[in-house]
Amino acid sequence: MSSGSRRASRFLQEKEDEVPQWIPGLGTDKPRPRTLGTSFFGYVPDAFVEKTPFLPSEKKATTPTPKDSETKEAEHKSEGAPNGQYLDPSSSKEFQRDMDASSDEGVVTEEVVVPQRVERRAAEPWDAQSVDSTDGSAQNRLLIKGGRVVNDDMMQDADVYIEDGIIKQVGTNLHTPGGTRVVEAKGHLVMPGGIDTHTHMQLPFMGTFAVDDFYTGTRAALAGGTTMIMDFAIPQKGESLVEAYHRWRSWADPKVCCDYALHVGVTWWCDKVGKEMEELTEEHGINSFKMFMAYKDTWQLDDHDLLESFKQCKEIGALAQVHAENGDIIKENTAKLLDMGITGPEGHELSRPEEVEAEATNRACVLANQVGCPLYVVHVMSKSAADVVSNKRRQGHIVFGEPIAASLGTDGTHYYHKCWRHAAAHVMGPPLRPDCETPKYLMDLLANGDLQTTGTDNCTFSASQKALGKDDFTKIPNGVNGVEDRMSVIWEKGVVSGKIDPCKFVAVTSTNAAKIFNIYPKKGRIAVGSDADIVVWNPHATRTISAKTHYQAVDFNIFEGMEVHGIADYVICHGRVVVEEGNVRAVSGMGKFVPTPSHSPYVYGRVQERDIANAPKKVDRAPYDGPVIQLNNQGLTQAVESSIIPTNQEFYTRGAQMNDKSPKRPSVKVHNPPGGKASGSFW
Ligand code: URP
Ligand code: ZN
Ligand code: ZN
Repeated sequence: MSSGSRRASRFLQEKEDEVPQWIPGLGTDKPRPRTLGTSFFGYVPDAFVEKTPFLPSEKKATTPTPKDSETKEAEHKSEGAPNGQYLDPSSSKEFQRDMDASSDEGVVTEEVVVPQRVERRAAEPWDAQSVDSTDGSAQNRLLIKGGRVVNDDMMQDADVYIEDGIIKQVGTNLHTPGGTRVVEAKGHLVMPGGIDTHTHMQLPFMGTFAVDDFYTGTRAALAGGTTMIMDFAIPQKGESLVEAYHRWRSWADPKVCCDYALHVGVTWWCDKVGKEMEELTEEHGINSFKMFMAYKDTWQLDDHDLLESFKQCKEIGALAQVHAENGDIIKENTAKLLDMGITGPEGHELSRPEEVEAEATNRACVLANQVGCPLYVVHVMSKSAADVVSNKRRQGHIVFGEPIAASLGTDGTHYYHKCWRHAAAHVMGPPLRPDCETPKYLMDLLANGDLQTTGTDNCTFSASQKALGKDDFTKIPNGVNGVEDRMSVIWEKGVVSGKIDPCKFVAVTSTNAAKIFNIYPKKGRIAVGSDADIVVWNPHATRTISAKTHYQAVDFNIFEGMEVHGIADYVICHGRVVVEEGNVRAVSGMGKFVPTPSHSPYVYGRVQERDIANAPKKVDRAPYDGPVIQLNNQGLTQAVESSIIPTNQEFYTRGAQMNDKSPKRPSVKVHNPPGGKASGSFW
């Protein structure tokens, strides 16, 4: 174990030992759409957003050494946020004016659903239970009785007994203390709560903020049976990654209703970025970094910087993630389309067809493999990108693929819908694919293990926000919903269609993610000692998905009208019943940040041996003692008899040679070509 990973495990052990910090009731109303002034991609550090000094829980959760806390507190003090509170830009008058100005006048519009206002409510009895979780009272004991427990590798008819947020017993005829609350689960499947590997709650993006924040987004997640999300802290180019991480923590910690982890974006490269990646891994529980191959001029990295960041990921035992689309091609195509007068949402898809995603996916695989770095391709949207992942896995690459609820549940024909609002609501990057066989294809690859996890890329923008791009598709904020419906959509398209069984459902909705991100079996398993994050699933009940009834703050649902079997009748999060008979009893701040330790065995388990096995081997041979051509002072060869290369050498190059007059070139015999073998890296 490297000193870095030892330090990381010590840090994580400290985190484990901490008493949970419940911070109830700190959630705010959902943010209204807001504009952020001049920055196209979002965060404007000084103009609008004041960064929050650490909340008490933050200080505790990220203070492994005095040095760290001292520095951070000093930094944050100097930012001068009044009263230590995060200023919500939506409250500004300018913002309100901006939003009024961006009306969708002249746009063909379907009925726009006015989102239900998610009000903070007065404290209720279960809130008190949430606050005081360690008093050993009966409320902390729960028995899920009579259900069928489903893990990724087995199903068994068993009861599950929970105490203080942890699964204590799994089996039949369990002895439980008096006063234990019983949840009847007869006819139900008892599964690990879902882990959504990819969300962007309240992301500052394309001039506005995603409308589902860490409160409404995680509340909706719970409603659908997801008990943990993984969000992305994304620094602007030139910004500190560690600061971005702290900013996201300050947004999320007081608001989350379920547990969450963070991936961190790498949007620029220099040595300092590499050092910060190490710091995040060792001290802040981050084990995955997302690199963007699109969003030219803002977040996009070129191949050199991708390579540097992949090398650093490998060095620190983190997982490299890529948004795989060729940003240069997109830029080129976009200009052409706008010139042609194509300004509607269809232009978004036309500017970035499948092969643009497949090319980047292939390039990312090659770059990562060449430096021996495991790779995770986020939001796999197309058949051809998925094929790249499958094929590379067959060639021995360590690569994982994540389709999302949107790519599994709907398709890109919507971009051609006559209603602008409808078409714009589906705009996301990479786009949904017009080939309507895509969802089935991706599900088949999940079924056979070629793809492993499922996220949502939940990044929601309401009609008036999408309308920022009413005259120009490049200005439509990219993103769709999914966090609430992912479990149902995958159940419907996967299990009901006969493509996957309930065990595989568990694998692709939680277990594989827990293994990849190194939080298994704390998460992703129903077993003694695991967190009591559980969904009691009714496989027979049906519901029709609609923006009129969903919990999300956004006013549109890309799965509108889809009838799905499979409903989360009960959701248990940290041992508490948070969903019951359709009622969601989520409390902001009830979730916790979950550190993800580096060197996940599921990801890195074979890397060391692989490096040794693939290491380049020098060929021992007698030194060459024949003639050598002479170069003149321009570096050109002299046409002298003595410069002819002997034909018995072990390899030749294809460039012009002195013996080019002969009809055939010397035969090729390459044992160890320069640059290594084609498959497998040697680092
Ligand atoms: O359209 C998308 N995907 N929005 C969120 C940002 C990203 O690239 O994941
Ligand atoms: Zn992305
Ligand atoms: Zn995303």
